[in-house]
Amino acid sequence: DTSATTITITGAGGQIGYALLFRIAAGDMLGADRPVRLRLLEIPQGLRAAEGAALELQDCAFPLLRHIEITDDPLTAFEGCNIAMLVGARPRGPGMERADLLAANAGIFGPQGAAIGAAAAEDIRVVVVGNPANTNALLAADSAPDVPADRFTALTRLDHNRAVGQLTDALDAAPDDIDRLAIWGNHSATQFPDVSHAVVRGEPVIEALSARLGGLAAAEAWLDESFIPRVAKRGAEIIEVRGSSSVASAANAAIEHVRDEQAGTAWTSAAVVSTGEYGVPEGLVCSFPVRSEGSGYRVIEGLAISERSRARMDSSVAELVAERDAVRALGLG
Ligand code: NAI
Repeated sequence: DTSATTITITGAGGQIGYALLFRIAAGDMLGADRPVRLRLLEIPQGLRAAEGAALELQDCAFPLLRHIEITDDPLTAFEGCNIAMLVGARPRGPGMERADLLAANAGIFGPQGAAIGAAAAEDIRVVVVGNPANTNALLAADSAPDVPADRFTALTRLDHNRAVGQLTDALDAAPDDIDRLAIWGNHSATQFPDVSHAVVRGEPVIEALSARLGGLAAAEAWLDESFIPRVAKRGAEIIEVRGSSSVASAANAAIEHVRDEQAGTAWTSAAVVSTGEYGVPEGLVCSFPVRSEGSGYRVIEGLAISERSRARMDSSVAELVAERDAVRALGLG
């Protein structure tokens, strides 16, 4: 079926893969009118798990699912690919330094970027989920010089959704009531979840918080001491409570990232390749508030940035620069 969209999922035999595949095949990502063809890329040790998921997909008899192919060869996996979701990554092992982690992942995302450059369809769009997601996306983009850099993104939608979740709780609101929230920087504990432009049912969030908490100082204290650290460290909280990392929420965020990029959205957060917006060095994959008209995420420009916000953005961007420099020092990226 040539009208089907080819979606390549790496690490498809892993936990997030298992949470992603069924929702994609059910039409949650591209809609009920777009048939999909799935390509599952794994390393040899992960192939059986991916094959097992494929058997179950067959047993769902999803009307939109046209074909499933499983491979451990990146070129085969990305041949004619329209949407690539790069989930598989090397986790941090015991005693592994940050530089080792960056190097191990550079060894995955460099070759996958090159295979995307060599084999993917003209309209390829890539989202990197596997950590360190921003720098992995930078490496993939750098390894595919013939693919426009704006086709490469990294996932910070989970952070965005986590921030919405914290605000709905604090403001007794529904998710749809909250708009114009932004995640800036790296998908890491240095990220800056920013409510300074956010509104709840049209009212500035900062005013709604001040009214509920008894003044601006109390609202700012709640943001600094509760909201920002809770969102930034939510991954660790999930591991502690659940005994395992975020899986269903991560898969859901990846689906919403691709869905909104394709269908269009007026405002969300995503990490995209900087072209210098808000003073972020060109080429870094940094999270910004973004919009899409269906042909890719674009940074929402022209927002006023306070001094407090600037300091938080700068420290996360400094971490992205350090990650980039670390992979460059290894001769990569
Ligand atoms: P997992 O360990 O269950 O699955 C990872 C899979 O990737 C494994 O099946 C493994 O065999 C496969 N894999 C490893 N190297 C590969 C390669 N070179 N090519 C293809 N497949 C490869 O891990 P899980 O829970 O599914 O998480 C995946 C990644 O997503 C992790 O890096 C995790 O840190 C990240 N993550 C990112 C989030 C975000 O918001 N950006 C949120 C949650 C997780």
